[in-house]
Parts: sequence; C-alpha cells; structure tokens
Amino acid sequence: MKEISLGLLGLGTVGCGVVKIVENHQDKLKHQVGCSVKVKKALVKDLHKDRLVNIDEKLLTLHAEEVLEDPEIDVVIEVMGGVEEARHYILRALKNRKHVVTANKDLMAVYGSELLAAASENNCDLFYEASVAGGIPILRSLVDGLASDRITKMMGIVNGTTNFILTKMNNEGSSYEEVLHQAQALGFAEADPTSDVEGIDAARKMAILATLGFSMNIELKDVQVKGISSVSEEDLEYSKKLGYTMKLIGIAHREKEKVEVSVAPTLLPHAHPLASVQNEYNAVYVYGEAVGETMFYGPGAGSLPTATAVVSDLVGVMKNMRLGVNGKSMVSPQFQKTLKEKEE
Ligand code: NAP
Ligand code: HSE
Repeated sequence: MKEISLGLLGLGTVGCGVVKIVENHQDKLKHQVGCSVKVKKALVKDLHKDRLVNIDEKLLTLHAEEVLEDPEIDVVIEVMGGVEEARHYILRALKNRKHVVTANKDLMAVYGSELLAAASENNCDLFYEASVAGGIPILRSLVDGLASDRITKMMGIVNGTTNFILTKMNNEGSSYEEVLHQAQALGFAEADPTSDVEGIDAARKMAILATLGFSMNIELKDVQVKGISSVSEEDLEYSKKLGYTMKLIGIAHREKEKVEVSVAPTLLPHAHPLASVQNEYNAVYVYGEAVGETMFYGPGAGSLPTATAVVSDLVGVMKNMRLGVNGKSMVSPQFQKTLKEKEE
C-alpha cells in the first residue's frame, strides 16, 4: 500500500490532537498497517490563528474542495463540528470514494443512517468511535466485543464538561460560570456549550449508544432530556449533606421491544461507583443478558484522548484498505440487514 494521505476538516482541539498522534506514532502506524500516514490538507476558518500544534501554513486551506476533490486524499477526518455543512462535506467525500472518520455526535445522532448508507453504497468506511465518550472505545465494544449478547441497559456519565462542572462545584465550591469557563478553556466544551449544559450532547451520545447497543434506530428526538443549568451550589451542598453526589446520568433501557432513553441530573449515594467519576472522565455501565454487568471508564473529552479514538478508527480504515474490505462501517446488526436488503 502507498503512503496514506489525510484531509482534515477542522484543526481545533481534536484535529491538533490527531496531527500530534499521527506524527508521534508514525513508526507504530507503519508497523500496524505497513505504510506511513501524512496530513495533506486541513480545512480551517482562520489561516493565521495560533494552534496547539506546529503545522506548515501551506497545508491549511479555507476551501473544502481542496480536501474533498483531491484525488490523492484517501481518508477525510471530520473534526470541525456542526451539522449541515459537515453532513454535506461527508457525503461529498464518500461520493468521491474517500473513507471518513468523524468525531461528530451532533451529526451522527441525526443523520447517522443516511451517512452510513452512503458509505455502504460507495464501498467506503465511515467510523465514529470518538463521537461517544472520547477516548473510551465503547462503540466497538458494543458492535464487536458484546456482539454475542443481548444488551438490556446502558447507564452512565457521557458528557465530560458537565461532569467537570459538577465535580468542581461539589469538591471545590467553585461557581457554575467559573468552571464552565475552565471547561471551555481546556477544550472539553462544545463550540456552543449550551448543548453540554442542557444535556443535549449527552442525549445525542445516548441515542448513538442505544442505536448500536439495542440494534434499533434511536434518534435524538426519542431521548428525554434535562440538563444541569438550573442546578445551584445550594442543591449540591444539600445533596452532599444527605449523602448523595449529583451527576448528569444517561440511561437507555429496554424491556421486550419497549425502549426508554433519558438524560437527567441524578442523585447517587456517595458509595456508588459513578459518584466517584471525576472531572472530564466518563463511565458507562453496559448490562447484557449473558455477560451481566460491565463498566467502561476513561477520559470523555480533550484533545489527545479524543484523537486516540479518531486515529484508532483511521487504523481500522487502513487495515480494511490493506485487506480490500472497506464499506463495513460500525453499524448495528439490524442496520446491516437493512443495507443488505437495499443492495438486493
Ligand atoms: P474546535 O476546537 O472548535 O475546532 C473546530 C475546527 O474546525 C477549527 O479548526 C475551525 O477552524 C474548524 N471549522 C469549524 N467550522 C468550520 C467551517 N465552517 N469551515 C472551515 N473550518 C471550520 O472543535 P473540537 O473541540 O476540536 O471539536 C471538533 C469535533 O469533535 C466536534 O464535532 C466535537 O463535538 C467533537 N468532539 C470534541 C471533543 C472534545 O473534547 N473537544 C471530544 C469528542 C468529540 P479555526 O481553527 O480556523 O477556527
Ligand atoms: N463537549 C463534549 C463533552 C466533548 O464535554 O463531553 C466530548 O464529546
């Protein structure tokens, strides 16, 4: 296989992490997939902005077609965020037979089926591990690791920003505004943090988890959501005195064919394992009929942890390229069946 060329859509918190990992782990990547990887172009909004990584200015562009229409670019990494523009760019990349890796849960929670079907039609991979729980490889665990089981419930902390805010308010008595500001400066929060604090980001992630875990099409509109913006310092203080820790908890539960998915601030006894998940860390319990209870834990946001998931997806794409088996994206068995029926 020749050298693999990447086109980045976005070079912010996650994009810079991707560049760092690709640069620092070049030998490992070469060893794993037998060829080197280089960033050929990166789409940005501002050519002259200070970045978290040193990058040759010639690689930056303001024109998406320089990424999407370049025949030398094999894989497009979408880390710009937003919905409509990102959707349009990904569809164009797939049409041009480029594999795509994205960290965009806003997009996957709403247009996941459309994009996965487009990837399948074009024999391209579309991977999105980084869209849920940052550095924790939970999507692959649901699709592959627990493929033999019937998952009945998933429950946990899937938003790093709100967990960071609640941890700091609870442990250090910091004010809500002050810690939200810190979470933004550390690159955990979304461009518009409303989706974090109002629980929408967590709801998107729960929709993606439920779709894959339950093999059903669950969308954002199916999730009941309540965020933490109205939680006061007094609420936390009072809960603490009563022996509880407040966390923003997502729950997806199914009984027979009935599914309920919700996100809400929840009081947990101090001894509950989720009560001790601190700062931007995430943790998700997955219950399977055969396996029983499993727990996934790790950094849920931030540049390098999230980029790890993106670059691992890239390794997956490259392995498939080497074997000539692209077009098998991370989808639930139910969706796989739908795609197969469509092909026939
Ligand atoms: P970010 O720091 O705001 O970076 C976004 C990048 O995209 C910037 O480089 C920006 O250019 C570029 N961009 C945005 N809109 C653009 C447009 N219309 N045209 C051209 N360039 C555009 O965002 P991020 O935190 O890296 O997040 C990226 C994606 O990863 C989002 O979907 C987010 O939800 C997801 N994600 C983030 C994290 C995290 O911890 N941050 C974790 C998991 C998933 P400029 O730099 O020139 O402004
Ligand atoms: N804003 C998100 C969070 C980034 O805080 O969890 C990771 O998806």
